[in-house]
Amino acid sequence: MSLRTIYKFPEPVLRQKAKKITEFDDSLQPLISDMAETMYEAPGIGLAAPQIGESVQLIVLDISKEEDEHKFMVMINPEITEHEGTQIDEEGCLSVLDLTASVKRSLKITVTYQDLSGEKQELTTENRFAVVLQHEIDHLNGILFIDHLSPLKRALYKKKIKKMLASKKS
Ligand code: NI
Repeated sequence: MSLRTIYKFPEPVLRQKAKKITEFDDSLQPLISDMAETMYEAPGIGLAAPQIGESVQLIVLDISKEEDEHKFMVMINPEITEHEGTQIDEEGCLSVLDLTASVKRSLKITVTYQDLSGEKQELTTENRFAVVLQHEIDHLNGILFIDHLSPLKRALYKKKIKKMLASKKS
């Protein structure tokens, strides 16, 4: 297991559509271990592989600090197949420095995904866990939560990051 660097906006890998995983063998384990260690160390409640520079469709989650029912989970090639309702909740992201903001999401979603052995699974969930899942699945499609904000808020954030990066260099 090793702690990996979390890529931050505007790293290009965060904007790529991640590749589907097709081989379900032991080679996945080191990546999953690294992602778990990196997520817990951050600390975060979810992490998508592109956030550590691996452009593949894999996410790890553990929102047990917020809701008792979910522990460590791995989802491979997850896809939202059904959604209903809306909710607005505060979001932040390990790849988006210095910003939290209210984001509008579906209230309830059904996700199909594959587990470690490649078996198809389905999960229906709502509220906070549905938010986290939508956020992480977005990462696999090159989407960040700032993309859900108003154009003005997004522009302000980009400006702030540009300034921050420029001052780091000088
Ligand atoms: Ni994120």
